[in-house]
Amino acid sequence: MRINRLFVALILFISLSVNDIVFSEATGSNKNVREKVLLNKGWKFFKYKDIAYADSLIYDVRPEIKEYKDDKPADAMPTEAVKVESTEKVLKRWILPTGNEFIKDKSRHYKRPEGNPGKDFPFVQLDYDDSRWETINLPHDWAIKGPFYEGENAEVGGGMGRLPSHGVAWYRKKVFISLHDSTKQIYLDVDGAMSYAMVWINGYLAGGWPYGYNSFRIDLTPYINFGKENIIAIRLDNPPKSSRWYPGGGIYRNVWLVKTNRVHVAQWGSFITTDSVSKSSAGVNIKTKVDNKSNKKVIADIVSEIYLLDKSGHKIDSLIAKDYLSSIEIEAGNNRIVNQTIKINNPKLWGMPPNQEPNLYIAETKILMEGKLVDYYTTRFGIRELKFEPDKGIFLNGELIEVKGVNLHHDLGALGAAFNVRAAERQLELLKEMGCNAIRFAHNPPAPEFLELTDRMGFLVVDEIFDVWERKKTPLDFHLIFPEWHEQDLRAFIRRDRNHPSVIIWSFGNEVGEQYTDKEGAGLAKHLYDIVKDEDSTRPATAAMNYAKPHMPFPQVMDLISLNYQGEGIRNAPAYAHLKGIKTEPLYDEFHKKFPDKVILSSENAAALSSRGTYLFPVYEGISSPIRDTLGGDPVKKYVSAYELYTADFGSSADKVFGSLDRHPYVAGGFVWSGWDYIGEPTPYYEARSSYFGVIDLAGFKKDRFYLYQSYWRPDYPMAHILPHWNWPERAGKITPVHVFTSGDEAELFLNGKSLGKKKKGDYEYRLRWDDVIYEPGELKVIAYKNGKIWARDSVKTTLDPARIELIPDRNVIKSDGSDLSFVTVRIKDENGLLVPNASNMIKFEIEGPGEIVATDNGDPTCMIPFTSKNRNAFNGLALVIVRSFEGEKGNIILKAYSEGLKDASIVINAD
Ligand code: GAL
Repeated sequence: MRINRLFVALILFISLSVNDIVFSEATGSNKNVREKVLLNKGWKFFKYKDIAYADSLIYDVRPEIKEYKDDKPADAMPTEAVKVESTEKVLKRWILPTGNEFIKDKSRHYKRPEGNPGKDFPFVQLDYDDSRWETINLPHDWAIKGPFYEGENAEVGGGMGRLPSHGVAWYRKKVFISLHDSTKQIYLDVDGAMSYAMVWINGYLAGGWPYGYNSFRIDLTPYINFGKENIIAIRLDNPPKSSRWYPGGGIYRNVWLVKTNRVHVAQWGSFITTDSVSKSSAGVNIKTKVDNKSNKKVIADIVSEIYLLDKSGHKIDSLIAKDYLSSIEIEAGNNRIVNQTIKINNPKLWGMPPNQEPNLYIAETKILMEGKLVDYYTTRFGIRELKFEPDKGIFLNGELIEVKGVNLHHDLGALGAAFNVRAAERQLELLKEMGCNAIRFAHNPPAPEFLELTDRMGFLVVDEIFDVWERKKTPLDFHLIFPEWHEQDLRAFIRRDRNHPSVIIWSFGNEVGEQYTDKEGAGLAKHLYDIVKDEDSTRPATAAMNYAKPHMPFPQVMDLISLNYQGEGIRNAPAYAHLKGIKTEPLYDEFHKKFPDKVILSSENAAALSSRGTYLFPVYEGISSPIRDTLGGDPVKKYVSAYELYTADFGSSADKVFGSLDRHPYVAGGFVWSGWDYIGEPTPYYEARSSYFGVIDLAGFKKDRFYLYQSYWRPDYPMAHILPHWNWPERAGKITPVHVFTSGDEAELFLNGKSLGKKKKGDYEYRLRWDDVIYEPGELKVIAYKNGKIWARDSVKTTLDPARIELIPDRNVIKSDGSDLSFVTVRIKDENGLLVPNASNMIKFEIEGPGEIVATDNGDPTCMIPFTSKNRNAFNGLALVIVRSFEGEKGNIILKAYSEGLKDASIVINAD
């Protein structure tokens, strides 16, 4: 019997090491003091078909939803919470203690009540037979495969993306923990689970975390069976009608098992700040929180060493600086925060390309007891000097940086909320090409790896946590848990992200309802502000305002004035005069006058809309218009014109925004709503499934607007871009306006070799337009000039009918690690090799070799084909296939594409 057990244990141990990736942060003699195991593989997953049949292990009672419209304008006033009484049966009293670490006032810490709810529930038992459950790997988004809920009164409407993100589900995983680890602390670190996570280990309810966007840690130590198999069971409960966008569902980020000695650096226990930064030296302050989970007082030495990282993030071995603190006493069961100050000569600063480099350092902190290493903890950081000057903007290491930013939602298009590093990197690469240098993560903290990318690639970040506080925007959103969780969420968020040099501003709210409640709302804002500053006093803290005015108490609380749409004015241009809703004059000057000592940033602007490659006539003669059925919108097909002049009711076109920023040079810059399209919030057509706001569509294809931004943000990059396409057989003899986006200052347009005249940009003009061109098939050509010299050219030609398919991978060699991706653009071309700009052919994809098709898309917000389908129609000539490698399988992946009547195509992607 004994031998048998040992044998089983051995097999399990082997299976753990095969499935789960062990990252021993330390190497050589440092090994084994801290182990970080990526626990993503081989989870069992079960979701109840209907919430009505789910188990009753609920976190809390929720208010009943009476009436709810999901297509409310985004800037509708948030409303008061509905009170509900909790019953004794709910589980939140066992969950709340998980957050104690993040409640400053110890007298307010939650005590775990007696009892162990759910202990007899089958899913939490080790021997429960879950063989019929689905086997999945994390990160996992249970909703992304669909199908889409279509039609009116759908269970999930357009606002939340028409996908089944709501519901109750369980994840189970068996983990063998060796007897050798019996002196260790064992933690489960979950980077993100949507939402209301509750974690059982071996039948014990160990804790949980309701807010789906934050990362959290569960201490499993007291419940582990060492030398045995352990069962981790996680219950998620994602409420319906709880979000203004697609939240995704499931454990959608990485999960880690962290093993440490009793004495170790606490969770997110290091905080590195820099001071007196110059080219010749910098002070580096390392604050380290050391936990002593043993029952004895200990005396430890703490050593921190600093190294530089190379461009690919690897440590360069020569030691740069070191600090040794000896004989630090830490009481039993307590913690201690220690400070180390290190001076670095000739620091390599973290800066932003093109004029600076994003250099990074690593601090290696070792804890020694009686000369023996007991913990080894690393922190990446950057040395930079930030200055916020109200009359000029933001200075990074002495260079004035105009913020050329975009807002980004957390979903990754057809991949859903399941985080993937390559997909995020692709987003940033395309944005960089456009000239973007800053990201506002709207309206929740991103996956931790996203901030590693912004650090490495040199983007500035506004890290934001809440879309609502006490007042609600949707019936079951975060307001339900705000009273009990805001402090824990806020402190956890800052502790996790505070060492990233790319993070320059904390935003603790977006367009919250408390803007409307005068002193009371401002009081709550001040309470949150104080928490932020208590955690980190080095960065400005703010909340974005679309309603609060200079004379109100709300903006007084903020370090920095973060304006959504108010700078250029809301519903204030002629075309918007008839609309109802918030109306605001352009307010930059008033805010600047009232707060001369605060920097102003446009945290959201534009909210312009378009369907890529779709052009509707007539074309608005002004520069910015809301969408109407006869202007800019096609209410039947649910398309918005890509002349890029049309906006949400409260928005302004890019042209209007640029003019407004240029007229107010003290504004530090702004963030477009939005960089990429995202799932949900399909203003103005809630029958659709994804947004129209992006400068880049959901599949990652550039809309015409991309070039408008590029022309403005990269004035030194020679480029010109013509719109629309030139396939208009039904428009022969009709007026068909032609617009050109260029970084030049004038341009001449030719139709079939005939000049249609030269146009020059006037003051505050950002596009060149020939609005009276009469359509005839052939070629449109533009020659752009700058300072009188030829600067760039572009042309579009009338094409023939679709004839063949072309496949273009963004990378044809990918890593065989089971998560690397190749994004393959599918183009429908005519016989002459020209992209057919209105082609909509249905294409079928097949794959062979060590890879799989994870998703397809075409960037059309109205397309209801599930993202996982291997059949996809082109939308205006383009489609996308996302190919993923298999783990550990090298070789050639062959992707083939077929379509009736077209010559097929095939490409090879090498998995290396
Ligand atoms: C803003 C809001 C964003 C988004 C945007 C476009 O008011 O902050 O989250 O909804 O409008 O609708």
